[in-house]
Amino acid sequence: MQDLVANKVHDETRQGEAFAPFANDENQYNKKFYIESYGCQMNFSDSEIVASILQNEGFGATRNYEEADLVLLNTCSIREKAEQTVRKRLTEFRKIKDSRPGLLVGVLGCMAERLKSKFLEEEKLVDLVVGPDAYRTLPVLIEEAETGQKSVNVLLSREETYADISPVRLDTNGVTAFISIMRGCNNMCSFCVVPFTRGRERSRDVHSIIAEAQNLFDRGYKEVTLLGQNVDSYYWIDEVNDEIVTFGKLLEKVALVSPELRVRFSTSHPKDITDEVLLTMSKYDNICNYIHLPLQSGSTRVLQLMNRTYTREWYMAKVKRIREIIPDCGISSDIITGFCTETEEDHTDTLSMMETSAYDMSYMFFYSERPGTLAARRYKDDVPEEVKKRRLKEVVELQNRLSYESNKKDVGKTFKVLIEGNSKKSDADWMGRNSQNKVIVFPKENYNYKKGDYVFVKVNDFTQATLIGEVVKEL
Ligand code: SAH
Ligand code: SF4
Ligand code: F3S
Repeated sequence: MQDLVANKVHDETRQGEAFAPFANDENQYNKKFYIESYGCQMNFSDSEIVASILQNEGFGATRNYEEADLVLLNTCSIREKAEQTVRKRLTEFRKIKDSRPGLLVGVLGCMAERLKSKFLEEEKLVDLVVGPDAYRTLPVLIEEAETGQKSVNVLLSREETYADISPVRLDTNGVTAFISIMRGCNNMCSFCVVPFTRGRERSRDVHSIIAEAQNLFDRGYKEVTLLGQNVDSYYWIDEVNDEIVTFGKLLEKVALVSPELRVRFSTSHPKDITDEVLLTMSKYDNICNYIHLPLQSGSTRVLQLMNRTYTREWYMAKVKRIREIIPDCGISSDIITGFCTETEEDHTDTLSMMETSAYDMSYMFFYSERPGTLAARRYKDDVPEEVKKRRLKEVVELQNRLSYESNKKDVGKTFKVLIEGNSKKSDADWMGRNSQNKVIVFPKENYNYKKGDYVFVKVNDFTQATLIGEVVKEL
């Protein structure tokens, strides 16, 4: 069964992209690796760390697995379906391996961490199993695997942030990039496997974050997205400047790299997002007015079972506060339907909260029990699948209406848009985003703009996922 996702490119929809950096670099390495990434942006960002480590070992990236010596799948465990997708892909690589015995196949990421050496027993074709905190040991593990041994390292760390490793940007548009600011998660939402696959939360050295942002800007990038499972709990004691750096402070420091560098972040937890963050956002024009604030459920009872530690009222007050401080802020959400014991009334509470929050966009899922999580141990997965699906359908239909209404309100408005590249449909059109993270497509006409430029675009029309506009002189 398909997870349903409305109207936006998402981690889930990006599943299984093959990456290679600069095409003309491909020949300078004697061995080649091919990597596919699944799951969230953190995983895509980790693949760039892995690429950096492998390049130092003489492996160049290729987009074509047929010419690869090493095939890596950076995997996700968040829902059962995510794991099934990877298993299916592995059986496809089994065939290729049969015809090319020297080929090494490795599993990285969250599924590697969750299943550990079970992978080697179950999936006979896998040569390497490497968890998210063990990528530095890849060179040694590959060497071992080359001698025919199976190698595994799934040790989680309390310190590893790969702060000193400069990511090799994969499949980049040269305009937007991700920066990991922390790893792991301490929240223990009862449905979630992430604390088990990614380990304890730890923040990355502020100086290395700013240096990475500066470096990206110097190389022509115009937008960075700061990544963490719960960015609001970023915390760094900066002994150099004798300063405590909270997420609000970090945002400010990144914003100060240049007013021409846009800053985004993901994900915020409703219990942790502070006024300091909101006020910093409103102070700097280049911090985008967009917050991904996952609700999960609109029922306080269910939220409690989920261990989200906020109530319906708390969440509502947060949304109100966001709109007070940043009136034009885009807000999106994650919703789970059919969590353990969810009643029709709880479900109606979710629908009404979505309506009150007026989300511009949501990622919506039906509950998928994950082995080892608090919910799997404590509660019965007792909502029948067809009920989960029906509720999901209702949630998706509501979000479609909310997105439609949100887009409709934008008609006639003019936005500052960062050009990311050609529109998917036509080379005669540019594609970019406004501060609220909405995609806008507009004709190039005879203007002399290029990728990475900021332009003012007036919205004339829209489809479900995209605003359609034209370039104008000013706001
Ligand atoms: N750290 C982020 C999100 C991590 S996972 C946060 O706290 O918001 C992304 C989304 O996947 C979650 O927000 C949740 O909506 C969904 N999700 C996580 N575990 C799930 C499960 N077991 N079943 C269905 N959806 C799940
Ligand atoms: Fe999972 Fe909750 Fe952590 Fe997000 S905050 S990664 S949902 S445990
Ligand atoms: Fe998936 Fe791991 Fe991200 S489980 S969502 S890849 S942190």
